[in-house]
Amino acid sequence: MTSLQLAIVLPTYNERGNLRSMVERLDRALAGIRWEAIFVDDNSPDGTADEARAINLEDPRVRVIHRINRRGLASAAIEGMLSTAAPIVAVMDADHQHDPALLPEMLAAVSSGDYDVAYASRFCDGASTEAWGRPDRVKASGVANRLARKLTGVALSDPMSGFFMLRAEILRGDAHRLSGVGFKILLDILATVETPLRVKEFPLNFAARAEGESKLDRTVVFEFLVGLYDRWLGRVIPTRFALFGTVGALGVFVQFAVLWLVQGLIMGQHFVYGHWSRDAAFNLANSVAAIAAMTFNFVLNNELTYADKRLRGLVPLLRGWAKFAVTCSLGLLTNIGSAAALKSMGFHDFVAVIVGIVLGSVWNFALSSKFVWGRY
Ligand code: GDD
Ligand code: MN
Repeated sequence: MTSLQLAIVLPTYNERGNLRSMVERLDRALAGIRWEAIFVDDNSPDGTADEARAINLEDPRVRVIHRINRRGLASAAIEGMLSTAAPIVAVMDADHQHDPALLPEMLAAVSSGDYDVAYASRFCDGASTEAWGRPDRVKASGVANRLARKLTGVALSDPMSGFFMLRAEILRGDAHRLSGVGFKILLDILATVETPLRVKEFPLNFAARAEGESKLDRTVVFEFLVGLYDRWLGRVIPTRFALFGTVGALGVFVQFAVLWLVQGLIMGQHFVYGHWSRDAAFNLANSVAAIAAMTFNFVLNNELTYADKRLRGLVPLLRGWAKFAVTCSLGLLTNIGSAAALKSMGFHDFVAVIVGIVLGSVWNFALSSKFVWGRY
């Protein structure tokens, strides 16, 4: 009896109807090879894990890792690959978009020792995405791939591919350094492992999904962009600070827009203008504008910067906003105060507002990361 040669890791979320046919296809494709299949399921509501266990009872080569309170293709793939003693591990989708018939060739390439990684590309010569039937996704993948190649230096035709194979020890050596976020697991491995890996590319005829629907949504796309940033500049300017700063920069536009609007409103009212100096009108309008920008920043930071610690529900949101307002009030005072001071010193409105914003946001980040979204 030869020992286990290959483990195929199949992350699943609501794939119940695809499992049995997938195992049958693996069985046919891998005749003569000692393999096991590991479904890593994130507690799918459709009972995918139960189905996998039922198959496991009939076929001990099929195993299941059933995760609770977890989501994520990349982290599921990593945990599956770490759970096997097989010397070579593969990751593929469970929805029949990846053709298991490629597995023996990929295995031959990796076990020969000539290659560290074998992967199936949707975009190299001989590959096809016709049958996929999603020209929108083909285009989006093209953009994502180009971006990924630029920012990580990985030179594959399809670094976003979810169908690949490698020696398990390579993964184990660097698993602790992988981000495990989103869908971009192969890219993550290639960008993380220090020694350059020898990669063999196989053209894939990317099929249409069998049953169910895709789980790639806007969150995944956002996580992808954040992940790229993290690899690219994350060590220079921490990702969360960069996000906070970006949100803040958007807040600048909100502040200017509201400032312009409110100032116009006040100036337009001649009866009010009679009692208001230009400076007072500016200060009032800028206060309103800063509060509007702060609220905007709170919402966006809650959605994006602190998506992993997102406050949900009316009460936590209101409480969060109130805490954000309190922790930012120092920043807000700095913001408005320094702008007022600069303005009275004769600086241009623009300069006054910008300096106020920069000083204020330093306070905002330092305090809000601790008191609004952190534990203290
Ligand atoms: N455990 C787990 N948890 N599995 C997941 C999760 C999750 O949160 N999200 C998706 N999966 C599983 C799906 O059940 C499927 O087996 C596989 O991961 C791929 O997910 P799909 O939802 O089918 O992705 P797709 O077809 O839209 O995306 C394709 O293109 C991506 C790049 O453009 C796939 O080939 C991906 O692997 C690829 O990264
Ligand atoms: Mn799919």
